[in-house]
Amino acid sequence: AVEKTLILVKPDAFARGLTGEILARFERKGLKIAALKQTTLTVEIAETHYGEHQGKPFFGELVEFITSGPLVAAILEGESAIKAARQVIGATNPLEAATGSIRGDFAIEVGTNLVHGSDSPEAGVREAGIFFPELS
Ligand code: CMP
Repeated sequence: AVEKTLILVKPDAFARGLTGEILARFERKGLKIAALKQTTLTVEIAETHYGEHQGKPFFGELVEFITSGPLVAAILEGESAIKAARQVIGATNPLEAATGSIRGDFAIEVGTNLVHGSDSPEAGVREAGIFFPELS
């Protein structure tokens, strides 16, 4: 089925100048950019986006990091977009991510793993609404 996924080029990737490289990889995979913006998250929006991780030991660190600087948010659209984007991104822990994936090629630490991608079609719709309320 055609799906939408919400992608974040996180502050570490943005600061390292990897935004173009990362977006190019999704485009080459065959996913279409349906929406795109640069923004800096407030703590409130970060806590909403990462609500499912509230209570985990790394939650504070995660919110601090994701609000630490500008990021780029995109809605990517395409057949099986959730799974396709996650394949391009690679495993959450960059040391376990395959070479050829974004995290496998460019990251080492789980906290600074460069990219976020929605983990289900429902999450894709929910997260797209948080970052692009003007579209829903
Ligand atoms: P992401 O796909 O953005 O979703 C939740 C994020 O939490 C995840 O990527 C990681 O960056 C982060 N995360 C997961 N586990 C840990 C951990 N043990 N320590 C710090 N951050 C983590």
